[in-house]
Amino acid sequence: MKKLAFITFFVLFSGLMQASVPVITQEDKDQAAALVKQMTLQEKISFISGWKDKFYTFPVERLGIKSILLADGPQGVRSIGDKAENSTYYPCGLAVAASWNRDVAYGVGTGIGQDARARGISIMLCPGVNIYRNALCGRNFEYYGEDPYLASEQAVSYINGIQEQGVIATIKHFCMNNQEYSRHTVSSNADERTMNEIYFPTFRKAVENGVGAVMTSYNGVNGVHSAENQWLIKYNLRERWGFQSLVMSDWRSNYTPLGSATSGLDLEMPMGYALNYENLKPLLDNGVIAESDIDEKCRHLLQTYIAFGCLGREPDPRIPLDNPESHAKAYKAAVEGPVLLKNAGGVLPLKGGKILLVGPNADYIPFGGGSGRMYPFPERTTTLYQGLSALGGKYKVTFRSGIPTKPSELDKIQYIVVAVGYNKDTEKEDADRTYALPAGQDELIQAAVATGKKVIVVVYSGGEVDMTKWADQVDAVLMAWYTGQESGRALADILSGKVSPSGRLPFTFWGSWEKNPVSRLSYNRQWISTKLYGANQKFLKRVAAYEYVDYNEGVFVGYRGVEHFGVEPLYAFGYGLTYSSFDYSNLRVDKVDGHGVNVTFTVTNTGRCAAAEVAQVYVAPVNPSIIRPDHELKGYEKLFLGKGESHTITLTLPESAFSYYDKGSHDWTFDPCKYRILVGASASDIRLTEDLLF
Ligand code: BGC
Repeated sequence: MKKLAFITFFVLFSGLMQASVPVITQEDKDQAAALVKQMTLQEKISFISGWKDKFYTFPVERLGIKSILLADGPQGVRSIGDKAENSTYYPCGLAVAASWNRDVAYGVGTGIGQDARARGISIMLCPGVNIYRNALCGRNFEYYGEDPYLASEQAVSYINGIQEQGVIATIKHFCMNNQEYSRHTVSSNADERTMNEIYFPTFRKAVENGVGAVMTSYNGVNGVHSAENQWLIKYNLRERWGFQSLVMSDWRSNYTPLGSATSGLDLEMPMGYALNYENLKPLLDNGVIAESDIDEKCRHLLQTYIAFGCLGREPDPRIPLDNPESHAKAYKAAVEGPVLLKNAGGVLPLKGGKILLVGPNADYIPFGGGSGRMYPFPERTTTLYQGLSALGGKYKVTFRSGIPTKPSELDKIQYIVVAVGYNKDTEKEDADRTYALPAGQDELIQAAVATGKKVIVVVYSGGEVDMTKWADQVDAVLMAWYTGQESGRALADILSGKVSPSGRLPFTFWGSWEKNPVSRLSYNRQWISTKLYGANQKFLKRVAAYEYVDYNEGVFVGYRGVEHFGVEPLYAFGYGLTYSSFDYSNLRVDKVDGHGVNVTFTVTNTGRCAAAEVAQVYVAPVNPSIIRPDHELKGYEKLFLGKGESHTITLTLPESAFSYYDKGSHDWTFDPCKYRILVGASASDIRLTEDLLF
């Protein structure tokens, strides 16, 4: 009882936690409606777009409606208003997905939520959850990989973490932002089933779990700009999924006043280029739109702000700006995200001795560029060089800009660690990146190989890279992603064996650009816009010709395409090595009510050290009613097991795990065919199977 009283006191008075995600109540709606009734038309129109310095909403001081402060996301709180500020730098979205641990995602979300509260920020512009369709998309690093189930689970945990702090999370970019090239002038085109099975589920799950905001994408969808796309916003988000909170545009992605006013969009950011008085008044006067359309937008905004209690929010002085709790969350994510792809002869963990560290990312904290960048760096950052040097003891680390050529210098070295990859200039928003590593990096790795020493390559990137020139010759490859402020410490702990690597690929590592079926199935076509432009929008007048990108691979994205197209990837989705080994046994599949099943199995750590296994459950329809992917991820659990330890788990698969999207009924439908339940360590390393008939 005493403990309970203490916890209640702590929660109430620390202000650091809220018990649950705020939900919009009828009272919130009534209060919002009452406020809207008191607003003038001019105030209402101003209220539905951003205000000064790009990250504020418009205040209506007369009614006590204060401005709301927004900030990017997703790797931490990037700025206060338009000014970049130091804040905890967490690993990128792809690393959070690669942890395959919901607790990691929740921890990062909680940390970001607290960092936001400490700075008076009410809306975080994250997470980004667009599907990883190919390696080149410049924003893959911000997103959660190729699988809608993994992305949904991780993203919802992250969103819960943020929103439990009373901060609104924004899921973005709705939808199909799968390339950055031509992002203002490209339309992503896919059929209804593909969208519902691959590109919608993460957004939908977030909506069903109470996300407070949705941001539309720059790219168009099936020929209509996302912010002006009624089918996306009014029909799918609102009507089908019941979204009651706010929909905002991406920064400068509205093209016509009428399209923006009627799509279901509530807030144009960062300013009212389309949604302003000058543009909307004639539409209202001529009866093209009604004032009630504007009222509805204002109500969506206000009821969200009221539910989250963020009208008039100030920085919370009880939460430290430089918060040790946030650092701990950043470390946990940094140590669980990296994926070990290769470890020939058990070269890792490093056994000690003289280690030479080279490469552009060896004594630098790389980060992806654009709105998700975390710059300036928070004071607490550790580069790989600092992290490895701090190990001390048997590890003698030197850093050089290149490979020494003198035999006398080389003789003393035992290992060479080469830190390569991209950075803010080579992997970023508003551009796609190269598949090959930036200039000179392949050559550096090859020079390291030529010394005859053991070579460990650490790659910082937002996805797959071209390793064809050296993959066979190096001893180990560790994908670090963008690992955040704790990068060096976490990677040193993995390389030295203090912690076993535990990340798994959240996408298919094809091994060459041509192997990814998307590389040959996607066609660009011209789309000539017939849009009208707002009178005061010089910027938008330039945009007249568009391109279509057709998603001809349909639902067969990533590992779903492996069997379908008959291409063998270099490393499968879900793959990743540890310093141990695991056995799977005793699979049991039991039907539970309706069309759900319980999948029970045992995992045993059979190796030499404590490590984590990511047990993955896939569902394979054996004789489906329509052509479906060979198997799809429907459950996973990360299990931390000591040496020799076993654990039996039960994962429940709901009916939706056996359903597909039916174009005829425009809805998900259960497929009463024969199924095979697959349990294993990756999409292609299946250890246990059991057939199931409903
Ligand atoms: C990005 C968004 C971001 C916004 C505000 C845009 O360029 O696409 O993801 O939230 O800028 O910085």
